[in-house]
Amino acid sequence: MTAYEHAPGPATLAPLRRSDIPRCVEIEHILFPGDDPWSAVAFRAELNSGAYYLGAYDGDGALLGYGGLAILGKRGDYETEVHTIGVVPQWQGYGIGGALLSALLAKADELDAPVFLEVRTDNDAAIALYEKNGFVRVGVREGYYQPSGADAYTMHRPSVSESDGSDGRRAR
Ligand SMILES: CC(C)(COP(=O)(O)OP(=O)(O)OC[C@H]1O[C@@H](n2cnc3c(N)ncnc32)[C@H](O)[C@@H]1OP(=O)(O)O)[C@@H](O)C(=O)NCCC(=O)NCCS
Repeated sequence: MTAYEHAPGPATLAPLRRSDIPRCVEIEHILFPGDDPWSAVAFRAELNSGAYYLGAYDGDGALLGYGGLAILGKRGDYETEVHTIGVVPQWQGYGIGGALLSALLAKADELDAPVFLEVRTDNDAAIALYEKNGFVRVGVREGYYQPSGADAYTMHRPSVSESDGSDGRRAR
């Protein structure tokens, strides 16, 4: 449980619940209106796949944001992907997105897994968040987002073993 000192109220992180899916779908339509927002079916498929999903909740238990990490491969050779991260507009800028991402990356580090993600090339806030957390751009996927046709950067963050330690992480 984590409190955010500067947020409009207390916020905590916890495993995303299936009962949150309708609200996730509403938030998707607010955050990604032109980029095929995820449906309830998509969220259910993510949770059923064993991906690591967290929600951020206000003091009344209302969902403020969510983030999900897909875990691919097998023990000793995991690879992970940040599949989504989003915070409702009124709560953006208070550290919740950063906290969600840190928690997903802690899970990837626990598995000693590299992390990949795609981000719109014009999404300056998200790119800044990812670069601050050790991601580098490794490619561009043209027209990745539909129906907008927007391009995506593919970004990569090395596993703990691959890391040179310059970001404070140490190979085990
Ligand atoms: C990207 C997003 C999740 C960030 O969440 P947030 O709670 O607002 O972010 P935080 O307050 O934790 O900020 C963490 C870092 O993100 C970056 N950041 C956040 N908002 C930013 C902005 N408006 N401009 C530039 N950088 C920004 C900064 O690096 C910031 O660190 P700093 O405060 O030390 O400068 C949020 O803006 C969001 O939901 N955006 C819409 C959905 C989206 O684009 N998701 C990413 C899809 S790939």
